Amino acid sequence: MTRKSTNTVWHHATVTRKDREILHQHKSAVLWFTGLSGSGKSTLAHAVEDRLHKMGVSTFVLDGDNVRHGLCSDLGFSDEDRVENIRRIGELAKLLSEAGVITLTAFISPFKEDRNGARKLMPHGDFLEIYCDCPLEICEQRDVKGLYKKARAGEIPSFTGIDSPYEAPERPELVVKTGEKSLDQCVDEVVQLMVSRGIVNKVCVNPGT
Ligand code: ADX
Repeated sequence: MTRKSTNTVWHHATVTRKDREILHQHKSAVLWFTGLSGSGKSTLAHAVEDRLHKMGVSTFVLDGDNVRHGLCSDLGFSDEDRVENIRRIGELAKLLSEAGVITLTAFISPFKEDRNGARKLMPHGDFLEIYCDCPLEICEQRDVKGLYKKARAGEIPSFTGIDSPYEAPERPELVVKTGEKSLDQCVDEVVQLMVSRGIVNKVCVNPGT
């Protein structure tokens, strides 16, 4: 996308990201959940947030369906609109991480290039791509929102996995088998990853609380 605003000068904040990380007692990061519709991205992101919040971690979930009601309500599901959707979310996640927050994004984000674009906005190591690996057959069987049925009936054009592509990540930081494992197991795996990367402290991660 071309930048249309000219004559703007970047203002450096007095309170830095580092200052906010010290205040919050954890690092900022982006947990980027990707996967088919119905693969459990939002459920997992919210469950991880719930666990982290109880440990006193500052979090925020950006969720595909919700963001498309506001910030991205002008966008549809053409390839072009999905690219723009993910570009905006990448920028928003970056702003939130500068605010010292751990951002969890739950978007299909079907294109590798766009996910990599979001990754490049973040300092190295602060972007964790989490692939919610759930076979299409299971997503379709679950069909929580009834959208696969509609898509098969030709009522929703360009539906991901049906007549619009999904490019699975090649080297995500984590693959979560959301079609096989319990929600609790999946949450544990994500939190373990965050501990191993030094984003949150082991002491504050106690599922028993
Ligand atoms: S993305 O492709 O641009 O990343 P996003 O995650 O924001 O998609 O939105 C996906 C959600 O929109 C799905 O979970 C589903 O509820 C709804 N949806 C509506 N139409 C489509 C479509 N054509 N393809 C995929 N999801 C759709």
